[in-house]
Parts: sequence; structure tokens; C-alpha cells
Amino acid sequence: MATQASTHTQRGVFPQGFADHGARHVAIIMDGNGRWAKKRLLPRFAGHKAGVDAVRRTARAARELGIECLTLYAFSSENWKRPAAEIADLMGLLRRFIEADIDELVADDVRLRVIGNYRALEPSLVTLIDDAIARTAGNNGPILAIALNYGSQDEMIRAVQSLATRAAAGEIAPEDIGTDHLDAALDTATLPPLDLLIRTSGEQRLSNFLLWQAAYAELYFTDTLWPDFGSDALVQALDTFKGRDRRYGGL
Ligand code: IPE
Ligand code: IPE
Ligand code: MG
Repeated sequence: MATQASTHTQRGVFPQGFADHGARHVAIIMDGNGRWAKKRLLPRFAGHKAGVDAVRRTARAARELGIECLTLYAFSSENWKRPAAEIADLMGLLRRFIEADIDELVADDVRLRVIGNYRALEPSLVTLIDDAIARTAGNNGPILAIALNYGSQDEMIRAVQSLATRAAAGEIAPEDIGTDHLDAALDTATLPPLDLLIRTSGEQRLSNFLLWQAAYAELYFTDTLWPDFGSDALVQALDTFKGRDRRYGGL
């Protein structure tokens, strides 16, 4: 019998949309924009701008490779510690990315999602994001999830608060709360289980990204700086993933 741990090594046994690398959900901590710019004696903004091109390349490649869901860490709940000018640059690039790419996403049948407390962003940006999500809501293709003002601890606290509210209202008994309840209360509730978590730029930490969801994800660290990432780098990560033996605590 094909187990969850071995399906990715066997051709022809994948449910619809399950490409033969076996990774349904890939998430990326897109790091190294600043260092990419510094190496070129450019301002950090140039690195972030090149980073947007890498987002385009990688998201297109993910679609071609049959990845059901690509989640990209674009702005963390801790990135507010950066200088106001850099935060404004990042928000501006996000705005321009959505404005420039939404037609392509709609045409490519992509379902756009956002995880994180994005409603705390500037109101006009929230409206732009909500409109973009709504435009892709009727699509049936791959999911592109952008993590905005996302922090895993913040996400879990919000989820626990919503479960506590339901428990206090008598809707659920506290002792009945299990992993399914928490899964369903997280921002990632409608995304497939996380298979592969990639971090670029050589850093080997999670920086508050998908801590709960990564419980059994495969981790892949590459020295490639985010602006240099793209189709080839993604294929390399998937090849490595394909060779991993996922045991989930079993044998
Ligand atoms: C990733 O690149 C982009 C964001 C965190 C928004 P960085 O800006 O963190 O680049 P480095 O780590 O300084 O090189
Ligand atoms: C993680 O990168 C956040 C994003 C990629 C959006 P950081 O550059 O903020 O992470 P740290 O500060 O090095 O942990
Ligand atoms: Mg960084």
C-alpha cells in the first residue's frame, strides 16, 4: 500500500494536481535581498526590487511544476523593526506587484491568498489586497499565498483566542480541542499540509514562519540569495525533497 511517506517516489499514484516531486505545498522564506544589493554596492531597495522579479519567476515555475500551493514570506510581524523608509519601500513594491500581476494571476487560474494579520496594513493596501483576492476567488488552480505581517506566534495566539472564545460560549468543550481544531483556526486552514520549507541566503532559522505547520515539513536551506532564486533553484530544491525519506515518526 502506498503510504503518505512513499507516494512521492512512485509515479502515477498522485491525486489530481499532485505532481511527481510529491510536494503539494512549498513555502519559502525569501531572504537575502539586502545582501544581494550590498554585494553590488546598490541600495537595499534594489535588492527588494530584484526580489519581486524572483517572486514572479518562482511563482510561474511553481505553477509549471504542478505545485498546488506556494506560500511566500514577504513581510514578518517583526519586520516593523526596520527603518520606516524601508518598510514604505516594501509596501510600495507589494502594491505595485499586485497591481501589475493580478491580471496574469486571474488568467492563470491562480487562487491568491494572504496569511498573517494583513488587515493592520494601510487601509488602501488592505482594499487592494481584498479586491485582488476576490478577483481570484472563483479560480480553481494553484494557490499563491503571501505571508504579510505574518508571525507564527501571532497566528497561533489569534487561533487560540478564537478557540477560547468558542469554548467560553459553550460551542466546544476545552477537553475536545485537538490538532484539527487548531489547524482549522490558523490562517493556513484552507491550504494543503506543508511539505517543503525553503530558506534562501544561508540563514538556518525559521524566523517565526509556519512553526506549527512545519512540524513534519522537510527543511531546505540554500546559500542562494533570494533575488538569484528562480526555476532552476526551485527544481533543485524539489529534487532534494524527492530524495528525502519522510517517516512521520514511523519506520
Ligand atoms: C528579505 O531580504 C526580504 C524581507 C525580509 C522583507 P532581507 O531584507 O532580509 O535581506 P538581508 O537579510 O538583509 O540580506
Ligand atoms: C524573514 O527574514 C522574514 C521574511 C523573509 C519576510 P528576516 O530577514 O526578517 O529574518 P531574520 O531577521 O534574519 O531572522
Ligand atoms: Mg533578512
